[in-house]
Amino acid sequence: MKLEGLLVDLVPYGKRYLEQEHRWHNSEAWFWATAGDRMILSQAAVERRQQERAEWMEQRGSKSVWFGIQTKDGLPIGDIALTWVMPFSRVAMLGAAIGDSEYWGGGYGTDALLLIVDYAFDWLDFRKLWLGTMSLNERVMRQMEKVRFTLEARTRDGHYADGQPVDELYYGLLREEWPGREAMIEKLGLRARMKA
Ligand SMILES: CC(C)(COP(=O)(O)OP(=O)(O)OC[C@H]1O[C@@H](n2cnc3c(N)ncnc32)[C@H](O)[C@@H]1OP(=O)(O)O)[C@@H](O)C(=O)NCCC(=O)NCCS
Repeated sequence: MKLEGLLVDLVPYGKRYLEQEHRWHNSEAWFWATAGDRMILSQAAVERRQQERAEWMEQRGSKSVWFGIQTKDGLPIGDIALTWVMPFSRVAMLGAAIGDSEYWGGGYGTDALLLIVDYAFDWLDFRKLWLGTMSLNERVMRQMEKVRFTLEARTRDGHYADGQPVDELYYGLLREEWPGREAMIEKLGLRARMKA
């Protein structure tokens, strides 16, 4: 399965993505994605974590929906997922990380977000999506604002990043607030990039 966007496509999170994790998990991206953890992980540790994650998901019958983000040229640049899925409430948490920081701030993450939000509401019939982030994460704050998520809560000192306590921000989006992907593309003026 492939969800086709303007700048990126969402594809199954397979081997090509698992192979990038050692690089991504030791990068600046994971400081932001894990809300403050600066990891130094060996290849063996990353593989162990992948194994544990797969087992955990299988044992729990996890309903997470996990996509790789690739550029229109097919380059894997990150991941985006619906996790903590609560089927009875039809609510899920969003998580995303573009592992290669040279792709930050170029609209790739927002294009991926529009695809997964549309998929979650229109195909999976979720009622609500939410996301938590550190109050230092201005890229996410800006992105949430652009895509019309509501800041629902701020909890004090929920994280500890670079030696200081940091608040956690919770954003939420209800299905009835979502105007649809096409309307958001129009509103944001998102355009496909011309090939060089
Ligand atoms: C969060 C993330 C997925 C967003 O994707 P992205 O491709 O960078 O996002 P976009 O380019 O679509 O939008 C980011 C917005 O933040 C703005 N921005 C970029 N750098 C910024 C900065 N240092 N301060 C404030 N705003 C900034 C961009 O200008 C853009 O807003 P604009 O469209 O109004 O110009 C990506 O930055 C990322 O993976 N970051 C590291 C991991 C992470 O933080 N994961 C989320 C954890 S909750």
